Amino acid sequence: MLDLRKIVTDSDPKIRKKSINVEFPLSKEDEDTIKYLYDYLVFADDDKNVEKFGVKPGVGLAAPQIGVNKRMFAIYVPYFDEQGNISSITAHAFINPKIINSSIRQAYLLNGEGCLSVEQDHEGYVPRASIVTIKAYDYLLKTEVVVKFRGYEAIIAQHEYDHLEGILYYDRINKKEPFSRIQGALEI
Ligand code: CO
Repeated sequence: MLDLRKIVTDSDPKIRKKSINVEFPLSKEDEDTIKYLYDYLVFADDDKNVEKFGVKPGVGLAAPQIGVNKRMFAIYVPYFDEQGNISSITAHAFINPKIINSSIRQAYLLNGEGCLSVEQDHEGYVPRASIVTIKAYDYLLKTEVVVKFRGYEAIIAQHEYDHLEGILYYDRINKKEPFSRIQGALEI
């Protein structure tokens, strides 16, 4: 069982604050934070926990979303085979991530994005780079990594990175034409 923490929503100014870098060696507190971000995603990926504890599942969670304005986020994206069993998982627990490369080509989800910190629906495309390369310390591997994300995963990585800057997905929706398509963009 996970000792659940409250998810900060967009009515709280903490969600709009720019996060600060994490210092190494990691303090106990920072270690608890990054562990929690990852553990939450795994915990909430289980239907039984969703039912029993009312947790909301998600593929990413950033520290400001639990009220910690430090540069950390986790990603947990399971993939399933035809039998419905997990075939592979993309999982990271990033500390001090930096986007060191972004493609010019853009990508967006045709169903738009969602966020555990945003209760109200905001419809529209959220244009992002279709490929990003992130350099970070990965707490799961306990080492510095450089990871290239494409398509859906690139969108998740940028969504979570935005949280560290105090940016929410709906900030990126074209207000006048939320569903205006972008020439040459990857539509997912
Ligand atoms: Co979010």
